[in-house]
Amino acid sequence: MPEKNNRVYIFDTTLRDGEQCPGASMTEDEKLMVARQLAKLKIDIIEAGFPVSSPVQFSAVQRISREIEGPVIAALARAVKGDIESAIDALKPAKKKRIHTFIATSEIHMQHKLNKKPSEVLKMAVEAVKMAVDSIENVEFSAEDATRSDINFLTEIVEAVIEAGARTINIPDTVGYTTPKEYARIFESLIKNVKYGENVIFSTHCHNDLGLAVANSLTALQSGARQVECTINGIGERAGNTAMEEVVMAIQTRKEIFPYELSIDPKQISKASRLITKVTGMVVQPNKAIVGANAFAHESGIHQHGMIKNRLTYEIMTPESIGLEGSRLVMGRHSGRAGFNQKIIELGFKLNEEEINRAYEQFLSVADKKKEVYEEDIIALIDEQFGKTGDEVYKLEYFQITSGSTVVPTATVKVSNLQKGITHEVEVEAVTGDGPVSALFRAIEKALNIQTTLEVFNITPITSGKDALGEARVGLKVKDSKVFYGKGTSTDITEACAKAFLNALNKFEKTKA
Ligand code: KIV
Ligand code: ZN
Repeated sequence: MPEKNNRVYIFDTTLRDGEQCPGASMTEDEKLMVARQLAKLKIDIIEAGFPVSSPVQFSAVQRISREIEGPVIAALARAVKGDIESAIDALKPAKKKRIHTFIATSEIHMQHKLNKKPSEVLKMAVEAVKMAVDSIENVEFSAEDATRSDINFLTEIVEAVIEAGARTINIPDTVGYTTPKEYARIFESLIKNVKYGENVIFSTHCHNDLGLAVANSLTALQSGARQVECTINGIGERAGNTAMEEVVMAIQTRKEIFPYELSIDPKQISKASRLITKVTGMVVQPNKAIVGANAFAHESGIHQHGMIKNRLTYEIMTPESIGLEGSRLVMGRHSGRAGFNQKIIELGFKLNEEEINRAYEQFLSVADKKKEVYEEDIIALIDEQFGKTGDEVYKLEYFQITSGSTVVPTATVKVSNLQKGITHEVEVEAVTGDGPVSALFRAIEKALNIQTTLEVFNITPITSGKDALGEARVGLKVKDSKVFYGKGTSTDITEACAKAFLNALNKFEKTKA
């Protein structure tokens, strides 16, 4: 394939197909935040929504069109007049815009959903494309349920919409039914047989019902498609859509197999993933490729040993390449001495060989009882055994929270500054916040005269029962710093939050020492 044909366009539909799944709906402000991050990622086309479907959708597409520069802004429309008019209206303020019109082409959809004959469907598709092209020259046509459509009818309708002016032809695997070889054959057949097919971009749009969305999308590229439709974290209808980060990193990592040019800045991937989790509340599974919490975490002794010697032993891409700060050596019962050693160095301890051996034995007995041994457990363990403290600067002396359904939450905290062994008491503060935890965080900030931005916050139970231990994790920035992560555990979840917050601040302080 000539070099210029190797440019692959990334079409992000997080705000349309992604938002369509249960629990993922976003407010207009949240959509705008996501669109800004997509622009930072240098996504080629942002599908901002389906304007005719609701006033909120219309207004979100309009605002994104007005405020986001860089990517082409696309709006979805069924192949009917009202939808296309609405999309044209919503896209008016956009500098670069596209109408994405679609109609189903499979027998089952035409007969049972549309109640139309193929000839009627073809006419509607052509009329819709012509109407759209009259106002906006950049028009994409999607043959919904293409992978279950008759290939001859698909060829006919694709040819007709190209003649009507469509520039991008999308072949969706709407129900996640196809397989790589079958999908490849559909693209190869269309690209070979459709008249004027060389003048358009063929696009892939996959759903993940059989877990094949990314594989199908990559195979479509190998068969000539040059646009991938996808979502951040793979969110979307049912089992989701093709995950943007997986396609992008497969292309980045296996250039010899996928020799395509992208405009994407992969360093923005991790931020984009976290933002989607934050605004939708849909947490990414820890073992999810690229953006899962464990994607760059190593626990087993053999792996940790290999990683310390040369990270290429167990990492095919770097966490830094997606904007993370580094790999994580997770301490648990599978960790070996080399990993443990590395961890205590990272925590700032200087132990002699005999002390390391004793600490490691102690660590193994803790690891036998717990799934994951946290940094604070290791600090406590070394502290207890050798009286050597880590670099803890701030210590929570006490806190008090007033909260209830009819009162504004208020927090009071007392935090000590332990720097250089001198206990210095910091003024006690009472501050109000949106909720009890927010009040607590704000009280700590005020007491320490520090301003932070909370980037990550989650709470998980780590034991069961009424006296369950809860673990809080925070990731925060101090002014423009990088993100510092902290963990805290307690049977009182608010105490766990305060500990996590201070744990992150202690890590920040350590970088200043
Ligand atoms: O899955 C699908 O077919 C779609 C179309 C509207 C492109 O999302
Ligand atoms: Zn879809």
